Amino acid sequence: MSGDAVLVTGGTGGIGAALVRRLALDGYRVSFTWRSDAAAAEALAEKTGAEAIALDLADRAAVDGFAATLADREFYAVVHNAGATYDALAATIDVERAAALFQVNLFSFMRIAGAALRPMTAARRGRIVAVGALAAARAVAGNATYAASKAALEAYVRTVMAEVARRGVTANVVAPGWIDTKMSEAPPALAKAIPAQRLGKAEEVAAAVAFLLRDDAAYVNGTTLTVDGGLGALLAAAK
Ligand SMILES: NC(=O)c1ccc[n+]([C@@H]2O[C@H](COP(=O)([O-])OP(=O)(O)OC[C@H]3O[C@@H](n4cnc5c(N)ncnc54)[C@H](OP(=O)(O)O)[C@@H]3O)[C@@H](O)[C@H]2O)c1
Repeated sequence: MSGDAVLVTGGTGGIGAALVRRLALDGYRVSFTWRSDAAAAEALAEKTGAEAIALDLADRAAVDGFAATLADREFYAVVHNAGATYDALAATIDVERAAALFQVNLFSFMRIAGAALRPMTAARRGRIVAVGALAAARAVAGNATYAASKAALEAYVRTVMAEVARRGVTANVVAPGWIDTKMSEAPPALAKAIPAQRLGKAEEVAAAVAFLLRDDAAYVNGTTLTVDGGLGALLAAAK
């Protein structure tokens, strides 16, 4: 609802900045975390009126410290958008690097959402949204660690739903396919493999998240909403 406080992780990324802009436009009081680009964070905060919070999600102690502040903050929604990639064939995966990726993509979110859920369930309303990935459900060579982290994110969110739905809180995943940001690096030719014939826009992912935050999305719970121009359905049909 307009005026409610919303937390977005990774606010200076491609999808993250679109999220901050969209949710601010929808009237939420937006706070976002950022890691490496102070100038971009400052500019985004100035443009949208959002609060910028420096936080490296790979730093467990920093995440713990931040989570400890959430008991008093009463966020209506937490949107975990930050995500890292680690491309390696399964035979060459470095488990330390895989664990570091899981810290950013999953464990930081477990800590932050876990802390934010107490005030949400007490208020009997709230929204948990994680930005997953189509890769969680479809195989892409070299993507095993990333795909596993996003699949774990989906399982976590689904299970959170079972714990909090009765208290007016929803927990869902938005799973982008190929979105035109610096993370995607998709060669133009690959766009032709997508039924929509183009990469997605960060704003289109933000729109799906914005929908899940609305009051009239209260009955959408424990699910994964793909935003992929039809790619997932096409790959499933090709099996
Ligand atoms: N683009 C796609 O095609 C696509 C497809 C499926 C899923 N996704 C998901 O969409 C989300 C947003 O990705 P994007 O496309 O917008 O890519 P992006 O522009 O690279 O953004 C990634 C964001 O995650 C943040 N991040 C990474 N490691 C972090 C850390 N250790 N601590 C704090 N923040 C960290 C980045 O901050 P820094 O810039 O400071 O590192 C950045 O804000 C991710 O979860 C990604 O997995 C994207």
